[in-house]
Amino acid sequence: TDHILIDSFKREHTYLRISITERCNLRCTYCMPAEGIQLSPKDHIMNYDEVFEIAKKFVDLGVTKIRITGGEPLVRKDVAVILKKLATLPVELSITTNGITIDKFVTLFKECNIQKINISIDSLNPSKFNEITRRKNFDRVYKNIMLFANDDFFKVKLNCVLMKGVNDDEINDFIEFTKHHNLNLRFIEFMPFNGNEWKLDQLVSLATIVETAKNHFGADNIIRINDAPNDTSKNYQLKNARGSFAIISTVTNPFCDSCNRIRLTANGKLKNCLFSGGEEDLLTALRAGENIETPIKVAIQSKKKMRGGMDTQNQFTSDDLRLDNRSMITIGG
Ligand code: GTP
Ligand code: 5AD
Ligand code: SF4
Repeated sequence: TDHILIDSFKREHTYLRISITERCNLRCTYCMPAEGIQLSPKDHIMNYDEVFEIAKKFVDLGVTKIRITGGEPLVRKDVAVILKKLATLPVELSITTNGITIDKFVTLFKECNIQKINISIDSLNPSKFNEITRRKNFDRVYKNIMLFANDDFFKVKLNCVLMKGVNDDEINDFIEFTKHHNLNLRFIEFMPFNGNEWKLDQLVSLATIVETAKNHFGADNIIRINDAPNDTSKNYQLKNARGSFAIISTVTNPFCDSCNRIRLTANGKLKNCLFSGGEEDLLTALRAGENIETPIKVAIQSKKKMRGGMDTQNQFTSDDLRLDNRSMITIGG
């Protein structure tokens, strides 16, 4: 059973992302349709024992890092039970959240040694933020980001999905913000998923972001800094800033070659790539008492390089791809 997490391109999958719920207390436009999504029936969602069983299997197979996602993971009622159980495994545990309620979880995160917290914030302008997320939570999220950024226990990354004509006028404000706060802000290229009305002409590319920053701050003041191995982002720093910023260029500079991620959805399906069509049903196999290594192997062996939905000529593939795929809210980012 060694090496079953290594795929045909010799990529080793040591990073498991587990979505624990399809629900969310926001309605971000780039993530889900306004009317919401059809939720899976409750008994199709992994219970905490099943989350733990599947996670443990992956750890036995070589996974060293688990990130909890959603929907919004903290809306799940038994999230504390799940995190405490996962914290007993020899892995680095981390979480991606919209930040609305994280102030209630400081103690739990510390108990579970969850240091790496990624929080979404798509605008520094309250009304714009509320427009993008279709709810009114800016003040809480902002206050919570400050709380976590000022607590040395936590390593905070912020996620900002840029969309042309929506929030791309804030690129320099966001970079300015990193001058004063100890966090890593990531601009994310808008990606196509089911129901998010993605349009190529709304995409703000890595090249545009870097150019915008250099024009405003001066090229000499924008420093390219090292990326961690298997990082999704290209990292930069404004000279003398406390924090740093980065760009996740899934669409214009896909990082498939170094991808080490695999995803487990809340309903127990294994997705080998953000843009993969096929899924392996681990939960049904687990409930039937079967060895889940078999579907895990299938998922890993069939993994491709999807290049953020582009073809090998760097042309954008048609709508088919995203229509066959899930909504982001049920993938977990
Ligand atoms: P770290 O664990 O800190 O590296 O975080 P992360 O960047 O993997 O996770 P996060 O949940 O904060 O996701 C930030 C953005 O990166 C989201 O828009 C994700 O969809 C995107 N992302 C994460 N993993 C992958 C991946 O494997 N492929 C692609 N194309 N995008 C990814
Ligand atoms: N394109 C890019 N990033 C997205 N996210 C959600 N939907 C999209 C999309 N269509 C990001 C959010 C969240 C992370 C997990 O995924 O910023 O922080
Ligand atoms: Fe919720 Fe995150 Fe999707 Fe926004 S991006 S609707 S916060 S799951």
